[in-house]
Amino acid sequence: MVIKAFESNWHNIDFKELNINLTIFKLADIKFYDKFYEEFFKRYNDFDDLSINWRTNKIEIAKAIEKKLLKNSRVLSYGCGIGFIEKFIVEKRQDLKFDCFDFSDTASKWLKRDLSNIYFTSNHKKLKKYDFIFMVDLLYAMGDVEATNLLKKVKYLLKDDSKIIICNTSSQENENNENIKNSSTKNFIKKIKNLIRPVYYFLFKKNKVQFWGYERDKESYNKIFKKAGLMIDKSYSEANQLIQIFKN
Ligand SMILES: C[S@@+](CC[C@H](N)C(=O)[O-])C[C@H]1O[C@@H](n2cnc3c(N)ncnc32)[C@H](O)[C@@H]1O
Repeated sequence: MVIKAFESNWHNIDFKELNINLTIFKLADIKFYDKFYEEFFKRYNDFDDLSINWRTNKIEIAKAIEKKLLKNSRVLSYGCGIGFIEKFIVEKRQDLKFDCFDFSDTASKWLKRDLSNIYFTSNHKKLKKYDFIFMVDLLYAMGDVEATNLLKKVKYLLKDDSKIIICNTSSQENENNENIKNSSTKNFIKKIKNLIRPVYYFLFKKNKVQFWGYERDKESYNKIFKKAGLMIDKSYSEANQLIQIFKN
């Protein structure tokens, strides 16, 4: 099941205030993210300024990733954003050699300011080979073709026994949390909303919301990775997310 996601704000910043054209037809591009992060750093000075809910969720995700990283590994966070998860991991794990990549250089302000033991780049060519590459909430921000092409590029950054760890909200409630009750009813409601929502936004909120990504389920991600020549190793739910590990 694939569900289209739309957003009108992120980190309490209303997209209408960004002075950029919002569209329900095209996903946010680098120009959008640059503009967003520019505004973000005007409003916030430190991670502590961000909402407690957002930080709590991200800490749970960081813990789930951190425990998968073998000692002394070379690790890359791909699509790191502002670097909150990465900060949490490096503070706990000084054994890791840690690089970060995001196509928006603007996002790296705090990473560069506060985290001297992390190397950040927005230039894919500067990346090395890694034991672990993780992507949190990255692939959902792109279509299948873009995700497959990105993974084909990322494949060159892997060693023979490297792993890619991805973490996304699944479109199937039970894949985010195995203990969830009435998941089939909830999934059915989601499907219906998915059909109605784009029409509603088209009619009433055309320039007020931004097409934000695709919530996919486990199988949809498996297919994308397969197309890029990568195999599934493990899938499980943790931190209210779908976590999947892929290998060469
Ligand atoms: C939703 S944010 C997630 C950020 C971070 N991983 C987190 O969990 O807080 C998605 C990030 O992916 C980055 N991004 C989107 N498309 C990208 C691409 N094609 N290559 C690299 N980064 C990308 C954006 O700039 C943004 O920082």
